[in-house]
Amino acid sequence: MNIVILAAGTGKRMRSALPKVLHPLAGRPLLAHVIDTARTLNPTRLVVVVGHGADAVRAAVAAPDVQFALQAQQLGTGHAVQQALPLLDPSVPTLVLYGDVPLTRAGTLKQLTDAVGQQGYGVLTVTLDDPSGYGRIVRDARGKVLRIVEQKDATPEQQAIAEINTGIIAAPTGQLAGWLASLKNDNSQGEFYLTDVVELAIEAGIEIVTTQPDDEWETLGVNSKQQLAELERVYQRNVAEALLVAGVTLADPARLDVRGTLECGRDVSIDVNCVFEGTVTLADNVTIGPNCVIRNATIGAGTRVDAFTHIDGAEVGAQAVLGPYARLRPGAQLKDESHVGNFVEVKNAVIGHGSKANHLTYIGDADIGARVNIGAGTITCNYDGANKHRTIIEDDVFVGSDTQLVAPVRVGRGVTIAAGTTVWKDVAPDQLVLNDKTQTSKPGYVRPVKKKS
Ligand code: UD1
Ligand code: CA
Repeated sequence: MNIVILAAGTGKRMRSALPKVLHPLAGRPLLAHVIDTARTLNPTRLVVVVGHGADAVRAAVAAPDVQFALQAQQLGTGHAVQQALPLLDPSVPTLVLYGDVPLTRAGTLKQLTDAVGQQGYGVLTVTLDDPSGYGRIVRDARGKVLRIVEQKDATPEQQAIAEINTGIIAAPTGQLAGWLASLKNDNSQGEFYLTDVVELAIEAGIEIVTTQPDDEWETLGVNSKQQLAELERVYQRNVAEALLVAGVTLADPARLDVRGTLECGRDVSIDVNCVFEGTVTLADNVTIGPNCVIRNATIGAGTRVDAFTHIDGAEVGAQAVLGPYARLRPGAQLKDESHVGNFVEVKNAVIGHGSKANHLTYIGDADIGARVNIGAGTITCNYDGANKHRTIIEDDVFVGSDTQLVAPVRVGRGVTIAAGTTVWKDVAPDQLVLNDKTQTSKPGYVRPVKKKS
């Protein structure tokens, strides 16, 4: 089967410089969702019709299996499909989808194409409480489809019809080419309507098949920011529902956003207002506190992530404790049973098994061994103004509070660093390291007092 995705429209009502089909739903362009669904149907050809913002649309979804047809002027949906014809295989049917209708289930499309077969003509229709704005499905007394009438061309009786055209159709490609060539634009919008093909197919002796989706939202399109926000909620509700079915505990399914894929083990629990982006994996018994943002990360079994923790591009082992207010940046690797506490930032660094950095610390470009204790206010000075350097801290080191480690530097196993030390030279194992400082006290000191004006 060929699949054609119409994505040439302007999307004026979005009031945006971004082409409509590139507006993100769950963090990805609307069109990318449609392409994903199309791919699951294994099309022989996959053609996107571009027009408005063509270069940006092409760049955003370019892939070896996607071809583009340019519709330089938007002269109607029929005209749009016509532009794709040279790229289609005429020997198999064509399914037409819309770049701004992102949530149609693959199963719904499969049902339509199965019903249509190789030679039939099918339309996905849905019955709406408020059908206004849509093309109406006109049937005869016996229920046979006669034609589709656009809202703007419909009589009052036709406007009362609740069954509408979703726009999604399946048709035999060779014949479709002939029908499209004979379309006229003598209608209220002066456009070449794809919907008019229905009558031409009937004239050719084909009976129109219709199928319906399980859910109305599968056919909803995005024309405005309001509709985009509504579909975002539908998408997120579906994701939350699937997580609940899989056994994940969600404090509130309405306060979770997944922009990518979230894989969860058994007995995972997620508190309110968490955002997951990219690919995130949570192993068994992971607990995520409220207001966490987690992107491209794996988190090991039994690990607890406390409130307001931000994780990006990190790998966390089992039984670790993070946050509240921890920040893991790309390349952070936390081994099992490690603790990274409040206002601790870790970047491109390994925190070894059972090691702890519980308060107010920056660890960047570092390798920290096992059972290391990092005191509050410790900073790896990894940047000399031009280059980044590594700090190596071996097993069982005790780092006193307010320590600066000026990289490149290595601290040997078992070393104790006194509070307030600046370490700028390597330290051999099992030593105490401190800077010579004196503490001076001045007796009888009198604090200044504020002058009276
Ligand atoms: C179309 C259908 C209508 C259906 C409705 C469902 C026609 C004539 N009407 O109406 O029966 O109920 O969709 O939402 O088909 N597009 C192009 N090139 C064009 C025109 C449109 O690529 O020249 C694309 C648009 O970007 C959009 C889609 O086709 O994604 C639908 O076009 P639109 O103008 O919104 O059609 P409707 O008037 O809503
Ligand atoms: Ca429209």
